[in-house]
Amino acid sequence: MDKIVIEGGVPLKGEVKISGSKNSALPILAATLLAEGTCRIKNLPLLKDIETMLKILEFLGAKIKIRKKAVEINTESVKNIPAPYDLVRLMRGSVCILGPLLARFRKAIVSLPGGCIIGPRPIDLHLKGLEKLGAEIEIDKGYIKAKAKKLKGRRIFLGGTFGSSVLATANLMMAAALAEGETLIEFAAGEPEIVDLANFLNKMGAKVKEAGSHLLRIKGVKKLRGVSYRIIPDRVEAGTYLIAGLITRGKVSIKGAISGHLGAIIDKTEEAGAKVEIKKNSLYVENSQWPLKSVNLITLPYPGFPTDMQAQFMVLMCLSEGTSVITERVFPRRFMHIGELNRMGADIVVEENSAIVRGGRKFVGTRVMASDLRASAALVLASLAAEGKTEISRVYHLDRGYEGLVEKLTGLGAKIKRTN
Ligand code: EPU
Repeated sequence: MDKIVIEGGVPLKGEVKISGSKNSALPILAATLLAEGTCRIKNLPLLKDIETMLKILEFLGAKIKIRKKAVEINTESVKNIPAPYDLVRLMRGSVCILGPLLARFRKAIVSLPGGCIIGPRPIDLHLKGLEKLGAEIEIDKGYIKAKAKKLKGRRIFLGGTFGSSVLATANLMMAAALAEGETLIEFAAGEPEIVDLANFLNKMGAKVKEAGSHLLRIKGVKKLRGVSYRIIPDRVEAGTYLIAGLITRGKVSIKGAISGHLGAIIDKTEEAGAKVEIKKNSLYVENSQWPLKSVNLITLPYPGFPTDMQAQFMVLMCLSEGTSVITERVFPRRFMHIGELNRMGADIVVEENSAIVRGGRKFVGTRVMASDLRASAALVLASLAAEGKTEISRVYHLDRGYEGLVEKLTGLGAKIKRTN
């Protein structure tokens, strides 16, 4: 199995280009199931999760052509066959084919996505939403079986114990796009990836209004057409490089980042004493103020601080002066990175859904093991700042969400290599 080896302590310098957003691309690829004609999706990040979604679509019968960073998808010959466990289990995001399949065939069979290392990830909100639109759903031998004579728009409250749900909102938006009448989704997720999906659907001919707010309005239409669409840049990748620049005391320009999508991250780094320069199509970060000071944070649905940046920000807090309390409100058990960070020299304890991070530490290179996508990103960051060499194993987690990580970091001057 591959490993990443990093010799730490090199200040990163230069420019890094941000790839297309993984979490936008996944539901947008699923939404091509709704189109008559060919869709061309541009700025597609070449990642393991994207490959999995394309394999699922191909399994269902879609015709797919990949051309550099774009993909052409025609789903007209897709058949209504079960989406199998072997593919769906690879990634929770595959559950977002449920809404489009149901809208298109009035019947869908999709394997339950199964467990996940970042905590229990129920799909009750997905099912509740689709049932309100008129679907009958049963869970049978690990499969979700949904059918509907017709889907009929109505008012649906979609809030859950932990607030809004990104993919439940996406699933429902896609199903409602072809439903009869108007659907109102109350407590909808307002993440930029949801707005991206709404923009894609609207370009296809859908009538989605107020995306980005907590009250989403969708007027059903009879059909949707294939279109060409460019995916937004990945805000989590941008945030990760921002932290990389800060913890290595480097000078990094993050090209393509949309500052408006990174408000909470920029705000917290500034509160810690860093300066982030916002330019037209990029962010520039230079750490002239070292050490930074510890700050507290709580992860929340957008526009709050994203859970997908919690592990990476914790690395910054380990190196800052003071004590930081980081509370996880989206996935209360998402703390797998802590054990390995402590092995590298951090001082972090967990109390319920909060991590207490005593700062002013330094990392020392050693052998560590990646456990999930963002936890792995945190280990890469800690290694970049560490004294000596770190060997990270199980790096396939990184392949799920960071396109060309080794190449991009090498371009910034990091001493990093991937070995087998
Ligand atoms: N939840 C429920 N019931 C549901 C659905 C969700 O209780 O039916 C709960 C979850 O357990 C969680 C909270 O609601 O506590 C929010 O989960 P959400 O549904 O928003 O997560 P998701 O849509 O499954 C997406 C991203 C995740 C990201 C979360 C939160 C994709 C493919 N995945 O997941 O991304 O952490 O939103 O922003 O878009 C990652 O990229 O590393 C990643 C895990």
